[in-house]
Amino acid sequence: MTETSDKPGLAAWIWFACAAAVCAAMAWLLRAEGWGNAWLWWAIGTLLCTGASRSPAMFFESGFAIISYLLLGGAGYAHPAVAYLPIVAMVAAVSAFETRSRFVGALLLPACAAWLYLANGPDFSGVGWYGWVVVGMTAVQLLLNTADAARAPMAPPKTVDLVVCSYSGNTAHYAKAFGDGMLGAGAKVNLLRFHYWPEFDEPLPGDALVLAFPVVGWKPPWAMVAWMLFRMPRGRGRPAFILYTCAGGPENTSLVTWILLRLRGWKPVGRAWGIYPVNVVTFRLGPAFMWRFLDRLLPIGSDVSLATRCGAEFARGFPTGLPHLVWAFGLWLIGPLSDNKYFNWLPYRNYAWRKRCNACGICVRYCPVGRLSLRDGFPRASGTCTLCFGCVNLCPTRSMQLVAFTEYGNVYKPKFRGHVVKRRPKQKGVGPPADTSGEHADEAAVP
Ligand SMILES: Cc1cc2nc3c(=O)[nH]c(=O)nc-3n(C[C@H](O)[C@H](O)[C@H](O)COP(=O)(O)O)c2cc1C
Ligand code: SF4
Ligand code: SF4
Repeated sequence: MTETSDKPGLAAWIWFACAAAVCAAMAWLLRAEGWGNAWLWWAIGTLLCTGASRSPAMFFESGFAIISYLLLGGAGYAHPAVAYLPIVAMVAAVSAFETRSRFVGALLLPACAAWLYLANGPDFSGVGWYGWVVVGMTAVQLLLNTADAARAPMAPPKTVDLVVCSYSGNTAHYAKAFGDGMLGAGAKVNLLRFHYWPEFDEPLPGDALVLAFPVVGWKPPWAMVAWMLFRMPRGRGRPAFILYTCAGGPENTSLVTWILLRLRGWKPVGRAWGIYPVNVVTFRLGPAFMWRFLDRLLPIGSDVSLATRCGAEFARGFPTGLPHLVWAFGLWLIGPLSDNKYFNWLPYRNYAWRKRCNACGICVRYCPVGRLSLRDGFPRASGTCTLCFGCVNLCPTRSMQLVAFTEYGNVYKPKFRGHVVKRRPKQKGVGPPADTSGEHADEAAVP
């Protein structure tokens, strides 16, 4: 059984004291001595965040703070205090989150405002528009962190709906770790595999929801965004946990999902994510030894065990997960701008590897948007791809590929084959030959 607790240990308060001391030293050195070294502060901040949360994902996520600094013009920026603010807010939010203290949570925004004033002085006249964007988005993050700390404890859910969207099996693997934690804590878990939004009509009757998905273009996949906007049942105040995997740059995915859940009446109570860079479109190009190394290295064990711990804590009604960090720069705009039907036709053009294709037509019958058709016996694509990756996952001969990633003729080999859905739910008469490889093991493990 996974060890869980709703009380912070002494270690959390020690991390918090260290974080407060580092932030105070930063303010003093910036203001009194005019001395600052962003890379050093960032390195210290990242270590504090990773140590306090015990999450390698936090190590990756903290990268946003130094990117904000660089975008603001680095050391030459007229107001280094504004450029350093995301580092301070990150360190404060992560260490405060671990104390689980409402009092500390309530102090986050005023403390960071005071820090900015002390480090910068009273003259803010030279702060450019992007400087104010950084200040504004940092304030949004701190308000989210305060709201998280102030939330009343939730009743342990008896039944949890676990909605899993996963293309190459990574998210399903991560969600299984979370699901195992919930099962170990005595919750009943209703596993629902999400493929495509118009056909996902689940009523979500459970006491709580866990939403698991891969980050696609710095946000949840479009299909999931559409489902949340138009079809997702109302939450009526029920708690929801946000779970995702990505290659290392989740950007503002948790903020976007938080907003969408709120719009549908759910109460987001936490989030966690894991680092899984290998996915459908990676197609394992490059030397085999590199992939063997990556497969051994990732996902990082402590990321996965964090998911199990979070699952157990969530099922017991304890506050859990990772604090929200808001990335104060515009990649979140590039995501929706680049991942759309006007652009996707270029990198995601389908391609059936003729030497392997047996013209079975499974991909054609599967495609939820009717994009594929058989021409001269081989599948051809025209129109918009929703990036459901069903055609790639379903192809029995592994010949369906995506042009930009497969010109080298490599076949798609998911690391977590056992977690890749091989059949489109609720569609009769379509699918690969009888599944004898135990590839539905995950669905059996989380009933
Ligand atoms: C089309 C596409 C877009 C992606 N965009 C991002 C991204 O913006 N940021 C990121 O960190 N990872 C990104 N990834 C990586 C996936 O989020 C990551 O590998 C994930 O674990 C895949 O999960 P799955 O196997 O459950 O589909 C992208 C992957 C795909 C296929
Ligand atoms: S072409 Fe393939 S990935 Fe695109 S929507 Fe159709 S089945 Fe999904
Ligand atoms: S599923 Fe694969 S083998 Fe069958 S027609 Fe499509 S590309 Fe060819």
